[in-house]
Amino acid sequence: MRYENIETRIEGGKVAIITLNRPKQLNALNDALMTELGQALQAFDADENIGCIILTGSEKAFAAGADIPAMAGYSFVDAYKGDYITRNWETIRSIRKPVIAAVSGYALGGGCELAMMCDFIIAAENAKFGQPEIKLGVIPGAGGTQRLPRAVGKAKAMDMVLTARMMDAQEAERAGLVSRIVPVDKLLDEAIEAALVISSYSQIAVMAAKESVNRAFESGLSDGVTFERRLFHALFATHDQKEGMDAFINKRKPTFRNA
Ligand code: HXC
Repeated sequence: MRYENIETRIEGGKVAIITLNRPKQLNALNDALMTELGQALQAFDADENIGCIILTGSEKAFAAGADIPAMAGYSFVDAYKGDYITRNWETIRSIRKPVIAAVSGYALGGGCELAMMCDFIIAAENAKFGQPEIKLGVIPGAGGTQRLPRAVGKAKAMDMVLTARMMDAQEAERAGLVSRIVPVDKLLDEAIEAALVISSYSQIAVMAAKESVNRAFESGLSDGVTFERRLFHALFATHDQKEGMDAFINKRKPTFRNA
Protein backbone atom coordinates (compact mmCIF):
# COMPACT_ATOMS: atom_id res chain seq x y z
CA MET A 1 0.00 0.00 0.00
CA ARG A 2 1.27 3.49 -0.82
CA TYR A 3 0.96 6.20 1.77
CA GLU A 4 1.57 9.94 1.51
CA ASN A 5 2.12 10.93 5.13
CA ILE A 6 3.92 7.89 6.48
CA GLU A 7 6.49 5.41 5.21
CA THR A 8 6.47 1.72 6.03
CA ARG A 9 9.03 -1.03 5.72
CA ILE A 10 9.76 -4.45 7.14
CA GLU A 11 13.03 -5.33 8.86
CA GLY A 12 14.28 -8.89 9.27
CA GLY A 13 11.01 -10.25 7.88
CA LYS A 14 9.34 -9.77 11.27
CA VAL A 15 9.50 -6.14 12.36
CA ALA A 16 7.31 -3.46 10.79
CA ILE A 17 8.60 0.10 10.90
CA ILE A 18 6.19 2.99 10.42
CA THR A 19 7.86 6.38 9.96
CA LEU A 20 5.79 9.55 10.28
CA ASN A 21 6.66 11.60 7.24
CA ARG A 22 5.55 15.23 7.16
CA PRO A 23 9.03 16.67 7.71
CA LYS A 24 8.18 20.28 6.80
CA GLN A 25 5.54 20.36 9.54
CA LEU A 26 7.67 18.43 12.05
CA ASN A 27 5.28 15.48 11.57
CA ALA A 28 2.25 17.47 12.73
CA LEU A 29 -0.58 14.97 12.98
CA ASN A 30 -3.47 15.75 10.65
CA ASP A 31 -6.48 13.66 9.74
CA ALA A 32 -4.87 12.18 6.61
CA LEU A 33 -1.77 11.09 8.52
CA MET A 34 -3.75 9.56 11.36
CA THR A 35 -5.98 7.70 8.87
CA GLU A 36 -2.93 6.26 7.12
CA LEU A 37 -1.30 5.39 10.43
CA GLY A 38 -4.42 3.49 11.47
CA GLN A 39 -4.50 1.61 8.16
CA ALA A 40 -0.83 0.65 8.38
CA LEU A 41 -1.14 -0.47 12.00
CA GLN A 42 -4.15 -2.63 11.21
CA ALA A 43 -2.47 -4.16 8.15
CA PHE A 44 0.66 -5.09 10.14
CA ASP A 45 -1.41 -6.36 13.05
CA ALA A 46 -3.18 -8.73 10.64
CA ASP A 47 0.08 -9.88 8.99
CA GLU A 48 1.06 -13.29 10.40
CA ASN A 49 4.75 -12.67 9.77
CA ILE A 50 4.98 -9.47 11.78
CA GLY A 51 5.81 -9.86 15.46
CA CYS A 52 6.28 -6.25 16.52
CA ILE A 53 5.69 -2.75 15.14
CA ILE A 54 7.94 0.30 15.59
CA LEU A 55 6.53 3.81 15.27
CA THR A 56 9.09 6.55 14.70
CA GLY A 57 9.54 10.03 13.23
CA SER A 58 12.50 12.10 12.08
CA GLU A 59 15.62 13.02 14.02
CA LYS A 60 14.21 16.49 14.79
CA ALA A 61 10.66 15.46 15.61
CA PHE A 62 8.74 12.33 16.48
CA ALA A 63 5.70 14.60 16.11
CA ALA A 64 5.15 18.24 17.13
CA GLY A 65 1.50 17.62 17.92
CA ALA A 66 -1.83 17.79 16.18
CA ASP A 67 -1.78 20.01 13.09
CA ILE A 68 -2.54 23.47 14.48
CA PRO A 69 -3.60 25.29 11.27
CA ALA A 70 -5.82 22.35 10.33
CA MET A 71 -7.83 22.61 13.55
CA ALA A 72 -7.58 26.33 14.29
CA GLY A 73 -10.89 27.24 12.62
CA TYR A 74 -13.10 24.50 14.05
CA SER A 75 -16.21 25.43 15.98
CA PHE A 76 -17.27 23.40 19.00
CA VAL A 77 -20.03 21.89 16.88
CA ASP A 78 -17.55 20.84 14.14
CA ALA A 79 -15.20 19.29 16.67
CA TYR A 80 -17.81 17.57 18.82
CA LYS A 81 -20.28 16.40 16.20
CA GLY A 82 -17.65 15.13 13.77
CA ASP A 83 -15.34 13.95 16.55
CA TYR A 84 -12.77 16.01 14.65
CA ILE A 85 -9.10 15.89 15.47
CA THR A 86 -9.44 12.84 17.72
CA ARG A 87 -11.58 10.50 15.62
CA ASN A 88 -8.69 8.50 14.16
CA TRP A 89 -6.64 8.31 17.30
CA GLU A 90 -8.16 5.28 18.94
CA THR A 91 -7.09 2.72 16.31
CA ILE A 92 -3.70 2.25 17.92
CA ARG A 93 -5.37 1.05 21.13
CA SER A 94 -6.95 -1.84 19.25
CA ILE A 95 -3.61 -3.15 17.94
CA ARG A 96 -2.81 -6.45 19.66
CA LYS A 97 0.83 -6.82 18.70
CA PRO A 98 3.37 -4.70 20.56
CA VAL A 99 4.00 -1.19 19.26
CA ILE A 100 7.27 0.47 20.28
CA ALA A 101 7.63 4.25 19.98
CA ALA A 102 11.17 5.22 18.94
CA VAL A 103 11.29 8.92 19.79
CA SER A 104 13.92 11.38 18.61
CA GLY A 105 13.45 15.14 19.00
CA TYR A 106 10.09 16.68 19.80
CA ALA A 107 7.18 14.61 21.04
CA LEU A 108 4.76 17.41 21.88
CA GLY A 109 1.02 17.59 22.45
CA GLY A 110 -0.59 14.89 20.33
CA GLY A 111 2.93 13.64 19.54
CA CYS A 112 3.58 12.91 23.20
CA GLU A 113 0.11 11.37 23.49
CA LEU A 114 0.73 9.17 20.46
CA ALA A 115 4.04 7.97 21.94
CA MET A 116 2.26 7.19 25.22
CA MET A 117 -0.37 5.14 23.36
CA CYS A 118 2.43 2.84 22.25
CA ASP A 119 3.43 -0.03 24.54
CA PHE A 120 6.76 1.49 25.50
CA ILE A 121 8.98 4.34 24.48
CA ILE A 122 12.65 4.15 23.57
CA ALA A 123 14.06 7.68 23.53
CA ALA A 124 17.06 9.18 21.78
CA GLU A 125 19.24 11.48 23.90
CA ASN A 126 17.72 14.53 22.16
CA ALA A 127 14.10 13.58 22.86
CA LYS A 128 11.84 16.23 24.35
CA PHE A 129 8.39 15.46 25.69
CA GLY A 130 5.70 17.99 26.45
CA GLN A 131 2.01 18.81 26.59
CA PRO A 132 2.02 22.47 25.54
CA GLU A 133 -1.67 22.66 24.57
CA ILE A 134 -2.33 25.16 27.39
CA LYS A 135 -0.35 27.72 25.39
CA LEU A 136 -2.93 27.36 22.59
CA GLY A 137 -5.90 27.85 24.89
CA VAL A 138 -6.83 24.16 25.00
CA ILE A 139 -5.83 21.03 26.89
CA PRO A 140 -4.48 17.64 25.74
CA GLY A 141 -7.19 15.80 23.80
CA ALA A 142 -5.81 12.34 23.09
CA GLY A 143 -5.28 10.99 26.57
CA GLY A 144 -2.45 13.23 27.79
CA THR A 145 -4.13 14.19 31.05
CA GLN A 146 -4.80 10.50 31.74
CA ARG A 147 -1.73 8.63 30.52
CA LEU A 148 0.89 11.16 31.64
CA PRO A 149 -0.05 11.00 35.34
CA ARG A 150 -0.13 7.20 35.13
CA ALA A 151 3.38 7.27 33.64
CA VAL A 152 5.09 9.99 35.67
CA GLY A 153 2.79 10.67 38.65
CA LYS A 154 0.54 13.62 39.41
CA ALA A 155 3.21 16.18 40.33
CA LYS A 156 5.18 16.03 37.09
CA ALA A 157 2.06 15.58 34.96
CA MET A 158 0.41 18.67 36.46
CA ASP A 159 3.67 20.61 36.11
CA MET A 160 3.94 19.73 32.42
CA VAL A 161 0.27 20.15 31.52
CA LEU A 162 -0.10 23.46 33.42
CA THR A 163 3.23 25.13 32.60
CA ALA A 164 3.80 23.54 29.15
CA ARG A 165 7.45 22.90 30.04
CA MET A 166 9.24 20.13 28.20
CA MET A 167 10.89 17.12 29.79
CA ASP A 168 14.20 15.98 28.34
CA ALA A 169 15.09 12.32 27.80
CA GLN A 170 16.95 11.98 31.12
CA GLU A 171 14.08 13.38 33.16
CA ALA A 172 11.62 11.27 31.18
CA GLU A 173 13.58 8.12 31.95
CA ARG A 174 13.91 8.97 35.66
CA ALA A 175 10.18 9.64 35.79
CA GLY A 176 9.26 6.36 34.08
CA LEU A 177 7.92 7.79 30.83
CA VAL A 178 10.56 6.05 28.70
CA SER A 179 12.11 2.64 29.11
CA ARG A 180 15.59 3.35 27.69
CA ILE A 181 17.71 6.20 26.34
CA VAL A 182 20.13 5.68 23.47
CA PRO A 183 22.36 7.89 21.30
CA VAL A 184 20.46 9.52 18.44
CA ASP A 185 22.22 7.49 15.74
CA LYS A 186 21.47 4.23 17.56
CA LEU A 187 17.77 4.83 18.12
CA LEU A 188 16.36 2.74 15.30
CA ASP A 189 18.93 -0.05 15.75
CA GLU A 190 18.01 -0.34 19.42
CA ALA A 191 14.29 -0.36 18.67
CA ILE A 192 14.74 -2.97 15.93
CA GLU A 193 16.82 -5.13 18.25
CA ALA A 194 14.12 -4.99 20.92
CA ALA A 195 11.44 -5.68 18.32
CA LEU A 196 13.34 -8.69 16.96
CA VAL A 197 13.68 -10.09 20.47
CA ILE A 198 9.93 -9.72 20.98
CA SER A 199 9.27 -11.25 17.55
CA SER A 200 11.34 -14.31 18.47
CA TYR A 201 8.84 -15.28 21.18
CA SER A 202 5.45 -16.92 20.80
CA GLN A 203 3.06 -14.33 19.36
CA ILE A 204 0.31 -15.73 21.55
CA ALA A 205 2.29 -15.23 24.75
CA VAL A 206 3.39 -11.78 23.59
CA MET A 207 -0.20 -10.71 22.88
CA ALA A 208 -1.35 -12.11 26.22
CA ALA A 209 1.47 -10.28 28.02
CA LYS A 210 0.54 -6.98 26.37
CA GLU A 211 -3.14 -7.47 27.13
CA SER A 212 -2.42 -8.32 30.74
CA VAL A 213 -0.07 -5.38 31.40
CA ASN A 214 -2.62 -3.03 29.83
CA ARG A 215 -5.26 -4.45 32.16
CA ALA A 216 -3.24 -3.04 35.06
CA PHE A 217 -4.37 0.41 33.94
CA GLU A 218 -8.01 -0.52 33.50
CA SER A 219 -8.82 -2.49 36.64
CA GLY A 220 -8.26 -2.84 40.37
CA LEU A 221 -5.45 -5.13 41.60
CA SER A 222 -7.53 -8.19 42.40
CA ASP A 223 -9.45 -8.07 39.08
CA GLY A 224 -6.18 -7.54 37.26
CA VAL A 225 -4.48 -10.47 38.98
CA THR A 226 -7.48 -12.71 38.21
CA PHE A 227 -7.36 -11.62 34.57
CA GLU A 228 -3.63 -12.39 34.44
CA ARG A 229 -4.16 -15.82 36.00
CA ARG A 230 -6.83 -16.73 33.42
CA LEU A 231 -4.47 -15.87 30.57
CA PHE A 232 -1.53 -17.60 32.27
CA HIS A 233 -3.54 -20.81 32.64
CA ALA A 234 -4.91 -20.52 29.10
CA LEU A 235 -1.39 -20.48 27.67
CA PHE A 236 -0.96 -24.08 28.87
CA ALA A 237 -3.34 -24.99 26.02
CA THR A 238 -0.77 -23.83 23.44
CA HIS A 239 1.88 -25.72 21.53
CA ASP A 240 4.29 -22.89 22.29
CA GLN A 241 4.09 -23.43 26.06
CA LYS A 242 4.97 -27.12 25.62
CA GLU A 243 7.73 -26.18 23.19
CA GLY A 244 9.19 -23.38 25.35
CA MET A 245 9.35 -25.49 28.50
CA ASP A 246 10.59 -28.61 26.72
CA ALA A 247 13.33 -26.57 25.05
CA PHE A 248 14.43 -25.21 28.45
CA ILE A 249 14.49 -28.68 30.01
CA ASN A 250 16.43 -30.15 27.09
CA LYS A 251 18.81 -27.19 26.82
CA ARG A 252 17.91 -26.33 23.24
CA LYS A 253 16.47 -23.30 21.44
CA PRO A 254 12.66 -23.31 21.18
CA THR A 255 10.89 -23.20 17.83
CA PHE A 256 7.66 -21.36 18.40
CA ARG A 257 4.81 -21.96 15.94
CA ASN A 258 2.47 -19.26 17.22
CA ALA A 259 0.04 -22.03 17.90
C1 HXC B 1 1.42 22.37 12.33
C2 HXC B 1 3.60 22.74 12.89
C3 HXC B 1 3.38 22.23 14.18
C4 HXC B 1 2.07 21.78 14.50
C5 HXC B 1 5.43 22.83 14.02
N1 HXC B 1 4.88 23.10 12.83
N2 HXC B 1 4.54 22.30 14.87
N3 HXC B 1 2.62 22.83 11.97
N4 HXC B 1 1.12 21.88 13.55
N5 HXC B 1 1.76 21.25 15.70
C6 HXC B 1 5.52 23.70 11.65
C7 HXC B 1 5.83 25.16 11.89
O1 HXC B 1 4.70 25.97 11.67
C8 HXC B 1 6.91 25.39 10.85
O2 HXC B 1 6.31 25.57 9.59
C9 HXC B 1 7.67 24.08 10.84
O3 HXC B 1 6.78 23.12 11.40
C10 HXC B 1 8.91 24.14 11.69
O4 HXC B 1 8.57 24.60 12.98
P1 HXC B 1 9.33 25.80 13.72
O5 HXC B 1 8.43 26.32 14.76
O6 HXC B 1 9.83 26.78 12.71
O7 HXC B 1 10.57 25.02 14.34
P2 HXC B 1 11.34 25.33 15.69
O8 HXC B 1 11.57 26.79 15.83
O9 HXC B 1 12.51 24.41 15.68
O10 HXC B 1 10.34 24.93 16.86
C11 HXC B 1 9.94 23.56 17.02
C12 HXC B 1 8.73 23.48 18.01
C13 HXC B 1 7.63 24.43 17.53
C14 HXC B 1 9.18 23.84 19.42
C15 HXC B 1 8.27 22.01 17.99
O11 HXC B 1 7.36 24.19 16.13
C16 HXC B 1 6.33 24.29 18.28
O12 HXC B 1 6.21 24.79 19.39
N6 HXC B 1 5.33 23.68 17.65
C17 HXC B 1 4.00 23.54 18.20
C18 HXC B 1 3.99 22.50 19.32
C19 HXC B 1 2.59 22.38 19.93
O13 HXC B 1 2.02 23.37 20.40
N7 HXC B 1 2.04 21.20 19.90
C20 HXC B 1 0.70 20.91 20.41
C21 HXC B 1 -0.31 21.05 19.31
S1 HXC B 1 -1.93 20.86 19.96
P3 HXC B 1 6.69 26.83 8.64
O14 HXC B 1 5.77 26.67 7.45
O15 HXC B 1 6.47 28.06 9.44
O16 HXC B 1 8.13 26.59 8.30
C22 HXC B 1 -2.14 19.23 20.08
C23 HXC B 1 -3.45 18.79 20.56
C24 HXC B 1 -3.52 17.30 20.62
O17 HXC B 1 -1.28 18.46 19.80
C25 HXC B 1 -4.90 16.83 20.49
C26 HXC B 1 -4.92 15.36 20.20
C27 HXC B 1 -6.04 14.93 19.36
